[in-house]
Amino acid sequence: MLDFPISIRRATPEDASGLTALMSEEAVHGNLLQLPHPSEATWRERLEAKSSNGDVQLVALAKGQLVAMAGLHANPHIRRRHAMHLGMAVTVPAQGKGVGSALMAALIDYADRWVAVMRIELTVFTDNERAIALYRKFGFVQEGIFRAYGLRDGRYQDVLAMARLHPSPPRWD
Ligand SMILES: CC(C)(COP(=O)(O)OP(=O)(O)OC[C@H]1O[C@@H](n2cnc3c(N)ncnc32)[C@H](O)[C@@H]1OP(=O)(O)O)[C@@H](O)C(=O)NCCC(=O)NCCS
Repeated sequence: MLDFPISIRRATPEDASGLTALMSEEAVHGNLLQLPHPSEATWRERLEAKSSNGDVQLVALAKGQLVAMAGLHANPHIRRRHAMHLGMAVTVPAQGKGVGSALMAALIDYADRWVAVMRIELTVFTDNERAIALYRKFGFVQEGIFRAYGLRDGRYQDVLAMARLHPSPPRWD
């Protein structure tokens, strides 16, 4: 249940500054595979490219301010067109208040009913309990552990590989 009202929409290049501020938070970029000191110009370029490459990037706003993002990223291999990689982040003051759940519900609705993504996959640091709880709630299951997968704050850390298969793939009858 959300603690405050939010609106959710597709990201535009004008969200580059909001996304840069979000990714500047160590508790955010540290738990992703993003770097400190994010560049607004780079985010603007990414957002411009995303409108044409099949990726979808959603943002959540509260009182007009960007408080979260969640995206699905296409795979370059043609035989993996059924799979997309998920990434998401909520700004620290808004964490634990239902924003991530609301954004995930919107992204899964888009993936299941409008794009027919058969497999949504992600990696998550093994100690990121809140993220793992959120993913399990939405049907993601653990598929394995990648050891020493990512450098975080001076240490190589393990991640869980998790994925969710479409629960009822679309039909034509
Ligand atoms: C992970 C993240 C996206 C979750 O979004 P959020 O808005 O904070 O999560 P929600 O408030 O929707 O809570 C999700 C669930 O986790 C549970 N939860 C919250 N804190 C928890 C904790 N410390 N341990 C276990 N579960 C927890 C909540 O109870 C909720 O489940 P419920 O609805 O069944 O009660 C957000 O915290 C975040 O951006 N963190 C930093 C960046 C990050 O880790 N991104 C994901 C990288 S893989």
